[in-house]
Formats: sequence, C-alpha cells, structure tokens
Amino acid sequence: MRGAAGRRRRPDTVAGHALTSRECHTGTRPRLRARIAALHTRLDRTIETACFGEPLDLRRLLTIHHAALGVIVPALEQAGAARLFPGWDGCSRLSALEADMVELCGDSPRRVSIERLFPSEQEVWGALYALEGSRLGNQVLLRRMAEHGNDLVQRAARFLAYRSEDAVAWPCLVARLEALDYRGDDFEAMAHGAERVFGVYLMAAQRHLGPKCR
Ligand code: HEM
Repeated sequence: MRGAAGRRRRPDTVAGHALTSRECHTGTRPRLRARIAALHTRLDRTIETACFGEPLDLRRLLTIHHAALGVIVPALEQAGAARLFPGWDGCSRLSALEADMVELCGDSPRRVSIERLFPSEQEVWGALYALEGSRLGNQVLLRRMAEHGNDLVQRAARFLAYRSEDAVAWPCLVARLEALDYRGDDFEAMAHGAERVFGVYLMAAQRHLGPKCR
C-alpha cells in the first residue's frame, strides 16, 4: 500500500488528458465516472448484443456476470475489501448469483482460481466503485424485465434484485470515496482498479458473444 509519505503528486487525468486545476477540484465520483464512461458504454453495448432481445437471454447475462464476478469477488475478498468497507456483501451476492444459475441451468458454475487483481487499497476502492455501481444498472434491467412480464424475474432474480431495497451501501461508498479524496498517483491507482473490473467484464462478455442460447 502506498503511504502518505513519499507519495508522488501527479496531475489527475481522464482519458489521458491532464485535468485543469478547476476540474481537479471535482469530487471523486464524477472523476471516476468520467474515467469509466467509455468502458461502460463499450460493456453496455457488448452485453446488449449478447443478451438483449425478445426475450432477454437471462441465462447468458448471468453467465457473463458469473464469469466476471467469480474472479473479481474472491480477489477483492483476498485484498481485504470487507475490512476496508465493513458490510460489503460481494460474497453473498455471488452466492445469490450461483443460486440463480442452478435455477436456470441446473448446475452450479465453477469458480476460477483467485488472482491478485487489486494489490493496493486504492485499487480495491476503485474496484468497489465499479462493482457497487453495477447494481444501479441491475435496477434498470430488473425494471425492464418486469415491464416485459418475464416470468424469469420471479424464478431467477436473486442476484439482480440482491438487497435492491438497501439504499445505504451505495451512498456510504460514495461518501467514503469522497472523504478519501485521492489525487495524483493515488487517484490513478484507484481508477486502474475500476478499469480492471471493466476489463474482466469485457473479456467475460466477449467470450459469450455468439448465437443466443435460450
Ligand atoms: C447491460 C448492463 C448494464 C446496464 C444496462 C447499465 C446501466 C447503468 C445505468 C442506467 C446506470 C446509471 C443508474 C443511475 O444513475 O441511477 C449505471 C451506473 C453505473 N454502472 Fe452500469 N450498467 C450495466 C452494467 C454495468 C457493469 C457490468 C458495471 C461494472 C463492471 C457497471 C458499472 C456502473 C457504474 C460504476 C455506475 C455508476 C456510475 C456513477 O458514478 O454514476 N455497469 N449503469
């Protein structure tokens, strides 16, 4: 972990551009959001191509989530995410996802071996931002599925709906990120943590592009 002493100061960058001093005073969440925007759009499009149609290919959507979360959650657990952010429920959310997959596919998916994806605290915070933020997208998907009266919502929505009534975790996380107020190299490390989550998701989504499996 990088300590306060000996921290090198470097201008924050978004998409490779050094931020102006006014932009540097922007809060952590807007800076992170700007940093992941292009990746989010790319991932969103890839998942849309792989899974969205009539009906939504929920099995494939959950398979993509599991291929990514089966790597990211154990890596975050090993990196001490629950110590940094008490109450973090990544492991039980992964279990909910696996229960949905048993419901839809009939068997429990394999988890892959743990990789050391997030070696510093800054990267863990960035990864938590990406992972917890993805729950906002899940709310959108759930509403879409409910509007289409898809009966799978009743059977296999443990993961997508996981603690969706719990409005506390996201504002708490955002408040922690703002309080940390990482700048320079610390912000870069945090942004890399978030980008790594998107990288794992993109690889998982691309692996599952192809003919729809219903
Ligand atoms: C097809 C799948 C997805 C859709 C349709 C989607 C859609 C959305 C939407 C609509 C929001 C804004 C919600 C709001 O402000 O109330 C959002 C936020 C967010 N999503 Fe996604 N998302 C998807 C997948 C993901 C995934 C897999 C990740 C992470 C790897 C992710 C990361 C984020 C983050 C970090 C935010 C919060 C951005 C902020 O700070 O405001 N999303 N998503």
